[in-house]
Amino acid sequence: MEICVVGAGYVGLVTSACLAYLGNQVVAVEANPQRLTSLQAGEVPFFEPGLDDFVKSCLNTGNLKFSDNLEQGVKDSEIVFICVGTPSLANGDPDLSQVMTVARAIGGALDNKRRRLIVNKSTVPVGSGNWVEMLVNQGVQAVQPVPARSARPESSVFSVVSNPEFLREGSAISDSFYPDRIVVGSTDDASVEQMRKLYKPLITQDFDPPECAPRPKGLEHVPFVVTDLASAELIKYSANAFLAMKISFANEVAGLCEKVGADVKQVTRGIGLDGRIGASFLNAGVGWGGSCFHKDVMALQQVAREYNYPTNLLEATVKVNERQRLIVIQKLQDELKIIKGRTIGLMGLSFKPNTDDLRDAPSLTIARQLLKMGATVKAYDPVANKECKRQHADLDISYCDDLIELATDCDALVLVTEWDEFKRANWREVSRVMRWPLVIDGRNVLPEEEIVQHGMTYRGIGR
Ligand SMILES: NC(=O)c1ccc[n+]([C@@H]2O[C@H](COP(=O)([O-])OP(=O)(O)OC[C@H]3O[C@@H](n4cnc5c(N)ncnc54)[C@H](O)[C@@H]3O)[C@@H](O)[C@H]2O)c1
Repeated sequence: MEICVVGAGYVGLVTSACLAYLGNQVVAVEANPQRLTSLQAGEVPFFEPGLDDFVKSCLNTGNLKFSDNLEQGVKDSEIVFICVGTPSLANGDPDLSQVMTVARAIGGALDNKRRRLIVNKSTVPVGSGNWVEMLVNQGVQAVQPVPARSARPESSVFSVVSNPEFLREGSAISDSFYPDRIVVGSTDDASVEQMRKLYKPLITQDFDPPECAPRPKGLEHVPFVVTDLASAELIKYSANAFLAMKISFANEVAGLCEKVGADVKQVTRGIGLDGRIGASFLNAGVGWGGSCFHKDVMALQQVAREYNYPTNLLEATVKVNERQRLIVIQKLQDELKIIKGRTIGLMGLSFKPNTDDLRDAPSLTIARQLLKMGATVKAYDPVANKECKRQHADLDISYCDDLIELATDCDALVLVTEWDEFKRANWREVSRVMRWPLVIDGRNVLPEEEIVQHGMTYRGIGR
């Protein structure tokens, strides 16, 4: 199929490359000139394991192209994906300006030559499918003057469906080829069938897996879930809210564990083995972050407010997370007493491992608070140092090139991002270079016994 993907960020780029790999002709339209130039040269402008080589291989087949010409992209395609960002505004509402611009531009590019399917992959509030349709129509009308009314594409020349994205940064290619489910929101049978046809290789898993993303053992079928537009939009928000809530739940239990002398790792293992609950996302630590959880939970609350509907669980989910980020500071105070004048080393900056994404990263909250309290802050992240320096030039952090440089002369190390490299650290060497041998494990993943064996103090969360 001929496909246009608008926005080549995490979602748009991975979607474009995967659809191209499956044999479709894909043009990815990107408005950011630097990003476009890198992509055209086969360079991925952010860190995602395997994506660089995968994109290059798709470019080499000729199935994938990058462009800044949205109009041409739309004209040449039968399916147009909207994959632009929907970040939070200061008041918590999602900023839908990118979606608005793109929907109108798509409308302006439509012609009567064929029926286009407009697929919204950006995470948008409930009811946005109808709003996108309205904007596309506005775009259609803006370019067709009234006398040319007969030439105007009717709304039947396009249809809007919602196809929320569930990929996780760090495993984005695998998640795209082997999703837990594909959700399509539409009440138009022809559109649903077109989406089913597009996704057939994924639904039936009858494609040769790329080297970078082997098929999980036993996977033969991916559920294709058809809903109305509003339900598809709500599925996306509710899924993220539920995952955030699971982490906040583990963190609330962790606090209680510390009070009663229990170990949250043992407790969550015991809970997670219950098939009705499940073990994933039941991890206590410095809390959740990233580009999606906070903004999606806020947006869900905003929708509820519009209907005067109370969302007590969502409010608590956010409150627990805000408190949790600063729990490591409390632990530092318990151990070091005075923070002013201390040197604290942050192990990891990205909001989770295997990405350099710093959006809503707990590390930033922790660094800011430590700096405010008069500490010297050092940091080392295996991939995100450069991005942090670039995006947060205001943060007075000394960046280090490895863990030993980070640990040197530190009064405490705080593990913020659970990179594998930190789990395998040489604690003997670390203990030799630190000024004060304190390790706060903000993700409960470090080898406590080994750290203690080397004469250091270990503090986890909820243990
Ligand atoms: N990142 C994730 O893990 C993830 C997962 C699931 C869903 N989502 C959702 O998917 C959407 C996209 O997220 P993302 O992380 O890929 O965002 P992103 O900010 O990384 O990428 C968006 C891209 O769109 C481009 N863009 C903006 N306006 C444009 C225009 N008019 N024409 C062409 N390109 C334009 C931007 O330059 C940018 O490259 C968001 O709604 C997000 O909530 C993200």
